[in-house]
Amino acid sequence: MTAKLRAAMSSLPAYVPGRKTPGAVILASNESPYGLLPSVAAVLAEHAAGVSRYPDMASAQLIEAIAAHHGVAPDRIAVGAGSVEVCSQIASAAVEGGDEVIFGWRAFEAYPIITAVVGGNAVRVPLTADAVHDVDAMVAAVTRRTRLVFLCNPNNPTGTAVGGDDMLRLADGIPSDVLLVVDEAYREYVDPQRVPDAFALLGERPNVVVTRTFSKAYALAGLRVGYCLAAPEVAAAVRKCQVPFSVSGLAQQAAIAALGDVEEVNRRAKLTVAERERVRTALLDAGYAVPASEANFVWLQLGERSASFAAACLEAAIVVRPFPEEGVRVTIGTDEENDRFLAVARAFAGSLRE
Ligand SMILES: Cc1ncc(COP(=O)(O)O)c(C=O)c1O
Repeated sequence: MTAKLRAAMSSLPAYVPGRKTPGAVILASNESPYGLLPSVAAVLAEHAAGVSRYPDMASAQLIEAIAAHHGVAPDRIAVGAGSVEVCSQIASAAVEGGDEVIFGWRAFEAYPIITAVVGGNAVRVPLTADAVHDVDAMVAAVTRRTRLVFLCNPNNPTGTAVGGDDMLRLADGIPSDVLLVVDEAYREYVDPQRVPDAFALLGERPNVVVTRTFSKAYALAGLRVGYCLAAPEVAAAVRKCQVPFSVSGLAQQAAIAALGDVEEVNRRAKLTVAERERVRTALLDAGYAVPASEANFVWLQLGERSASFAAACLEAAIVVRPFPEEGVRVTIGTDEENDRFLAVARAFAGSLRE
């Protein structure tokens, strides 16, 4: 007889990671193309021998460093093994079986998985025709069972972001006892004039949580560190839901070092933003529909051509991330990688015109 598992297991969507094809240009996982920060490499070497010991379970030094970075008290911070773990800790803290979790769709593909794992019901609110979150529809989707709303800003995979007015309408529109989680995994690539920092705008509201990660601009995707900023009582609950020791000692030290090198992080992020604009302009010129992006990737609205476009890229040893029948997400790489990608994109557009 097979073991009895929860009914949700048979319908749980699988997370589809970006492909890792050896030797190829990887533009599929929204990682930094510039590699490990040299300042962090030195710290990793220094602490490597420590991995025979368990890490500080409370990540106290890291939490102090994050608190200082944001100018807040440490009791407002919780960490996890990547912001995806932090999002699931938040869901574990807030969602009971049968409760509803609202998010735009398509948004970060972990949200439905996280929701199903805690026994919640996912409520997917379609993005607008411009691939932007429809905050009024999200407010309208709230019911008495709603416990959590995710706002992915900028949104993965579309790269679009809502501005301060929309953020305020969403925060004002949902009940004050429903958690609003603003996922800012791509914050470092945003134009701050257009998209305010959610914590600066909404951080004093006790039901607002902002998540951040070291995986993207800080170039630490493989070490798994993320965190949230929240009201002290919410942060305390999120900490209780962390898998014990999930943030390794090396990861804690690396994240502290990366925070200390924020000028270099911002310099690299600016390079990516400049390349993003160059890539988008070239794609628009070639005839693609590409919404304005505030992240380190662009979204090609290719519909039924998504799979064939990704296959054409793969033939040229470039891995992108297709969402069949919807579009293709392409991470901004180095200048040379982007040039290689654009050559394939131009050829693909040309072959469609023939
Ligand atoms: C919107 C968003 N949130 C969170 C994450 C998770 O990042 P990590 O768990 O590496 O911090 C990602 C990763 O792709 C993302 O796109």
